[in-house]
Amino acid sequence: MQIRDAQENDLAGILDIYNDAVLNSTAIWNNNPVDLANRRAWLEERQRQGNPVLVAIDDGGQVAGYASYGPWRPHEGYRHTVEHSVYVCDSQRGVGIGRSLMLELLGRARAANLHVMVGAIESENRASIHMHQQLGFFHAGHLRQVGFKFGRWLDLTFMQLILNPERSTP
Ligand SMILES: CC(C)(COP(=O)(O)OP(=O)(O)OC[C@H]1O[C@@H](n2cnc3c(N)ncnc32)[C@H](O)[C@@H]1OP(=O)(O)O)[C@@H](O)C(=O)NCCC(=O)NCCS
Repeated sequence: MQIRDAQENDLAGILDIYNDAVLNSTAIWNNNPVDLANRRAWLEERQRQGNPVLVAIDDGGQVAGYASYGPWRPHEGYRHTVEHSVYVCDSQRGVGIGRSLMLELLGRARAANLHVMVGAIESENRASIHMHQQLGFFHAGHLRQVGFKFGRWLDLTFMQLILNPERSTP
């Protein structure tokens, strides 16, 4: 397993994982699959912003998962905070890939001198909430019924990690 920055030829693998989450989970609150151009535009925007998109490549050379962060909110005062996402392909969950992606992503965020990372997680997503707790994230809020998918309301749990708690200024 190798973790590295995503390249153009990883987009098909990223697309498969993303669309599987759209169609079969409440991890993403979209109803419709997207196409390769959509993921290419996303990758290019992240690269333009200087934000990482990481992929985990399995021994067969396939994309087993990906993780990234981008701006949390647009206003200038939030510029030291990012919101991340992490996805592992259905057949390779539970063997440490999500955690490995997150550890590398946290390293990148610290190297970029960011201060806070925020995760917005569907409240019944036990795997994600547990993984984030194990990584030191703490529960920062619970919004009831702010989403709707598969015929039911969804709650949103915010988790956050202060990346450089010793810093009083950036
Ligand atoms: C959430 C997700 C990224 C975790 O990645 P993963 O590679 O399966 O997780 P890991 O194998 O690295 O495990 C990390 C921790 O979570 C735990 N975990 C993994 N799957 C779990 C599950 N289904 N239920 C409870 N805990 C689980 C592991 O035991 C491990 O904890 P430990 O260190 O105490 O042993 C992955 O399950 C996934 O892609 N899910 C669908 C998309 C998603 O929900 N993304 C997050 C959106 S916020």
